[in-house]
Amino acid sequence: MTNMGPIALIGSGRIATALATAWMDNGLDVRVGARRVGSPVARTTSITIEEAVRSAMVVMLAIPHQALDEVLPPITAALDGRVVISCANPVRVLPDGSFVPDLPDGLTAGSALQVRLPASKVARAFSHLPAETLTTRAAPASAAMRHAVAVAA
Ligand SMILES: NC(=O)c1ccc[n+]([C@@H]2O[C@H](COP(=O)([O-])OP(=O)(O)OC[C@H]3O[C@@H](n4cnc5c(N)ncnc54)[C@H](OP(=O)(O)O)[C@@H]3O)[C@@H](O)[C@H]2O)c1
Repeated sequence: MTNMGPIALIGSGRIATALATAWMDNGLDVRVGARRVGSPVARTTSITIEEAVRSAMVVMLAIPHQALDEVLPPITAALDGRVVISCANPVRVLPDGSFVPDLPDGLTAGSALQVRLPASKVARAFSHLPAETLTTRAAPASAAMRHAVAVAA
């Protein structure tokens, strides 16, 4: 896994920290891009989102679905040709705490992201795994009773 080059991880919250930690533990070169530059994330320090994207051919989006409206426009051109993976769950939380879908009719989270990033190779992964599970249940390839990660591409 170490020969794939750096991976850019956009976001510095719960799932980003869990992924960064797991990937670094397995030898990946992770560049964390966040709006708060210079913050410690796993065993690295956040850089700008633009710098992180420029450094890697694989980019993982670990930000809220609603934040894509703000985050994607400045980096859309830089994402051309790159693999872009998103774990963002396209839901809105109502004042009563319930969740409602936040997607145009007929689109999935992956297909909606592909429309926004037509020249990128879009995939979805890690959207169904709680950050805590990634932290506490990550296991090497040889281990028994491993969690499966669903991927849609
Ligand atoms: N937590 C989980 O277990 C889990 C599991 C599967 C999927 N997900 C998905 O992962 C995504 C992130 O969830 P999370 O739990 O990690 O959330 P979180 O802990 O609240 O972290 C959100 C991250 O997104 C950043 N962010 C928010 N709005 C932004 C904007 N406009 N521009 C730039 N950065 C922005 C935040 O930056 P600041 O720190 O500067 O606010 C923070 O780094 C969500 O889409 C969620 O559906 C989460």
